[in-house]
Order: sequence, then structure tokens, then C-alpha cells
Amino acid sequence: MLARFLLQFLRHPLNTGAIAPSSRALARAMVRGLDLHRASAVVEYGPGGGAFTGEILARLRPGALFVAIENNPAMYAAFRARYGRLNAVNDSAANVGAILASLGASHADCIVSGLPWASFGGRLQDELLAATCAALRDGGRFATFAYLQGLLLPSGRAFARKLAGCFAAVERSPVCWGNLPPAFVYRCVK
Ligand SMILES: C[S@@+](CC[C@H](N)C(=O)[O-])C[C@H]1O[C@@H](n2cnc3c(N)ncnc32)[C@H](O)[C@@H]1O
Repeated sequence: MLARFLLQFLRHPLNTGAIAPSSRALARAMVRGLDLHRASAVVEYGPGGGAFTGEILARLRPGALFVAIENNPAMYAAFRARYGRLNAVNDSAANVGAILASLGASHADCIVSGLPWASFGGRLQDELLAATCAALRDGGRFATFAYLQGLLLPSGRAFARKLAGCFAAVERSPVCWGNLPPAFVYRCVK
């Protein structure tokens, strides 16, 4: 997976936004506090090869709706090869509302995002955040990670300000130093 990931980074650096899949420690930090065992509908954005997916699935109750949205066809194919039985679409997270509707859900209880927000321009950040807020139910939870060095970038700092504007509560996890590169999680409640 590492070689495939690196290749996708070289081909699509801004869309991939990372040179390696996330670590297990970051995956665990991503799902902490989400109450996934109570959720009826959960969405994962940008699963890549599925670094967070196993931790999500391990906490879902039977019958809960899960859908992964991955816009890179090569990453999507890798994800399908690993998790063929799951709902997954090769599409942009910007279409999360229509994707949930096509599966019979009006809103998500939780959205777990693997998107590289600091690599995105302001307009794409706005589009994806607006779609995310519209797709989450009131009180729904949103978890997304950021690389520590992303806080040095104007786009990373702008994203943090936008989260504070979109959500009723935003918390930052401790830094996960074992991840390559070190990262932390934003835990947000709508
Ligand atoms: C930083 S990688 C994270 C992959 C995996 N979740 C992990 O943590 O190892 C970002 C992923 O988001 C995907 N992605 C980027 N923009 C997207 C979008 N608008 N909609 C869906 N997926 C997107 C990329 O193709 C890539 O798989």
C-alpha cells in the first residue's frame, strides 16, 4: 500500500496530500469520542486504502449504514479490493448529500474525513465544509485530521478558522507523534 500511496502522491500531490497512509494510532484517535456504536449512518471521506475504515467498522452496530467516498479512481480501486462488501462510491465528498439520499438516508450521524484540507484552495474547502455541515444531523460529529506542519500554511490556518465558524464545538486531540508526518485530530460537533 505504501508504494501505491506514494505513486498517487506523485501523480496527484494536492488531492492525495500525504506520502504514506495514516498510522493505526492516528486511526484510533480519529474514532475516539465519536460514539460510533450509537450511529445509524456514518460516512468516511477519502478512505484511500482504508487506514481508518477498520477502526470505524469495528465500532459500528449491525445494520448501521456506512459509505466511503473516494474521488481518486486508483485509490477507490484499492479500497474496493480490500473492502468489496462495503458501500463505496468513486465520487467527490462534495456530493455527500446526494450520495446519502441515494442510500435512503437524510443525514449522517458521523463523518470521518481523511481529506487533506490544507492542500485545498479556499473555494474547495468552503464547498466541502458546506456539504459536510448540510449532510450532518444537528448534534452530529465530524472528525478530521491535520498534519502539524499544515498549521504553518495559510490554508491550514484558514481551515481551522472555518471549522470554528461551521461547528458548535471544535476540539483538538493531542499530537500523534508516531504518524508520518505527526498529526492531530479536530473533533467537531454540529
Ligand atoms: C491524505 S489521503 C488519506 C487516505 C487515508 N484516509 C489515510 O488516512 O491513510 C487523502 C485521501 O482523500 C482523497 N480525496 C481527496 N479529495 C477528495 C474529495 N474531494 N472527495 C473524496 N476523496 C477525496 C484522496 O484521493 C486520498 O485518498
